[in-house]
Amino acid sequence: MSGDAYALRAEGVRKVFGVTEVLTSASVWARAGTVTTLMGRNGSGKTTLLRVAAGVLRPDQGVVAVDGVTMVPAKLHTLATLGVMFLPQGRLLVPSASVADHFRAVHVTYDGCEVEKVIEAAGIGDLMSQRAETLSGGEQARVSLGLAMARSPRVLLADEPLVGLAPVDQERLGGLLRSLATEGVAVVTSGHDTPVLMSISDEIIWSVAGTTHHIGSPETAREHHQFRREYLGPGFRST
Ligand SMILES: Nc1ncnc2c1ncn2[C@@H]1O[C@H](COP(=O)(O)OP(=O)(O)OP(=O)(O)O)[C@@H](O)[C@H]1O
Ligand SMILES: [Mg+2]
Repeated sequence: MSGDAYALRAEGVRKVFGVTEVLTSASVWARAGTVTTLMGRNGSGKTTLLRVAAGVLRPDQGVVAVDGVTMVPAKLHTLATLGVMFLPQGRLLVPSASVADHFRAVHVTYDGCEVEKVIEAAGIGDLMSQRAETLSGGEQARVSLGLAMARSPRVLLADEPLVGLAPVDQERLGGLLRSLATEGVAVVTSGHDTPVLMSISDEIIWSVAGTTHHIGSPETAREHHQFRREYLGPGFRST
C-alpha cells in the first residue's frame, strides 16, 4: 500500500456523450474515515463522475487510482476486489428474490462478512422474507445499503442514497453512512437532500460547468457565496 492519503481518486475526468462534453475536468477523492459529498445541479455530471470512479464507465481522459496506484483501465470487478463498492442510484435488487436471498448471495460471494450485524444495523431483520418488489422505496434503500455494507467495503460510492426517503429514514440512512466512515470506510455520496447530507459530510465537492470545486467543510459550503447563489438557493436553511 502506498502513502497516498486517498483510498480512491478519480482525477481530471473528461467524459463526452455524443457531441456533449458533460465533464471537462472533474475530480473526486475518497479518504478513509470520512464522508465526501458531491453536490450540484441536475445534469451537472455527478452520477457520470461516480460511475467513472467506480469503473463502470470509461472516461475519455483522466485517471482512477486506488491507494495511489493508477488503474489502467479502471474496471468495476478489479476495483471491487480492492474493496471499492458502488451503490447506484436505482438500487440493484432482483425484484422476485427475497431480502434473505440477496443476503445469502452476498454471504456466499463474500465469505466472512458479518451479515447478522449489518442486518441489525440497517434495521431490516423483519423484511428478510419479503420479495424485493414488495418493499417500499425506503425499505429498498435500507436493504441496498445493508447489502453494500455486508460486502465490507473500504470505499463506498453511494449515488443519491437518500433520494425519495422520508426525513426520518434519510436521517437513519445518513447515520448508517456516517457510522461506516467512523469505522474507517471512505464514503462518497451525492444528492440534493442537503440538510442531512451536510450533517454527515466532512467535505463538499461542487459539481458545476463540467468541473468540480473542492469547497471544504459543510460550514464553508454554507458560507460560499457562489455555491449558495447557484446551488443552495437564497432560501436555504440547514436546520
Ligand atoms: N449514457 C449517456 N448518454 C448520453 N447522455 C448521458 C448519458 N449519461 C448521462 N448523460 C447526460 O450527462 C449529463 C449528466 O448526467 P448525470 O446523470 O451525470 O447528472 P447528475 O449530476 O447525476 O444529475 P442528477 O442530479 O439529476 O442526478 C446529463 O445531461 C445527462 O443527460
Ligand atoms: Mg445523478
